[in-house]
Amino acid sequence: MAPIVSIRNLAKTYGNGFQALKGVNLDIGKGEILALLGPNGAGKTTLISIVCGLVNPSDGQVLVGGHDVVRDFRRTRAMIGLVPQELTTDQFETVWNTVTFSRGLHGKKADPARIEAILRDLSLWEKRENMLRELSGGMKRRVLIAKALAHEPEILFLDEPTAGVDVNLRREMWQVVERLRKDGVTIILTTHYIEEAEEIADRVGVINGGELLLVEDKTALMRKLGRKELRLELAEPLGALPPGLDSYNVALAEDGGALIYEYQGEAEQGRIATLLGSLAAQGIEFRDLSTRQSSLEDIFVELVGQRA
Ligand SMILES: Nc1ncnc2c1ncn2[C@@H]1O[C@H](COP(=O)(O)OP(=O)(O)OP(=O)(O)O)[C@@H](O)[C@H]1O
Ligand SMILES: [Mg+2]
Repeated sequence: MAPIVSIRNLAKTYGNGFQALKGVNLDIGKGEILALLGPNGAGKTTLISIVCGLVNPSDGQVLVGGHDVVRDFRRTRAMIGLVPQELTTDQFETVWNTVTFSRGLHGKKADPARIEAILRDLSLWEKRENMLRELSGGMKRRVLIAKALAHEPEILFLDEPTAGVDVNLRREMWQVVERLRKDGVTIILTTHYIEEAEEIADRVGVINGGELLLVEDKTALMRKLGRKELRLELAEPLGALPPGLDSYNVALAEDGGALIYEYQGEAEQGRIATLLGSLAAQGIEFRDLSTRQSSLEDIFVELVGQRA
């Protein structure tokens, strides 16, 4: 199936000479949820701004629904809803007007029932007559989502949707995203909460220094790069690593009370049985065993060399 967003050799050098994007290639499929991860200044907002037609690319091309975002700006922009990273909404306007105006701005016919459904969905119905300045931070973020959805876009960009939002509200937002996915909306989000990507994304892209380091199916990524650790609590502590285990990545815990086997991928996982057999043959007994899997966060830190 043709991608709904197609990004080719995209580069951006800002007026001051700073190169924020260095040739990014990325295809986004209809209906998928893609999380873009990267440290501060990686180029995430720049990338989103170009796709939304707010910033001009220096080189390369972006197609949205097959149309060029520079040449066919109006058409592509109408397909996109954007929840920006910075809150820039008129604080003296009401929730209802903010969302309604946004629909009009994108040239869509007024549809109060539609606006009502969006506000109810985001638990903002009770606040519809309140001015934005009268809302909490989390509610303001939800208004931004409502505003971005007002013209019924096919593609939704969420730039740090849950920054500074508490855990409960974050989960609530994830449910909103899940509902939108069911409606077939394509969602691209950036986040510094890797747990968020782990929870809701189908694919994960890692961007650093203006380059897309990887983009991969989340589950495959975890399987491929995720390390696992098997910990065997020994019945009797050992003074040294038993012989015959050199070919395994096994270490003795500091107090000698446990053996730790670090492995990666299915091949190494398959060696667990022979490892256990070799221990049994030496009469080494264990009283408990546990496994731990490295998280997306661990993988990210390894790739980028710092936290998100
Ligand atoms: N208008 C601009 N002029 C010059 N440089 C800019 C401009 N906007 C952004 N940059 C630079 O481009 C780089 C990428 O910025 P961008 O906002 O895309 O990062 P980001 O990945 O969204 O970061 P964050 O996680 O902090 O939001 C940064 O080094 C930033 O300073
Ligand atoms: Mg940003």
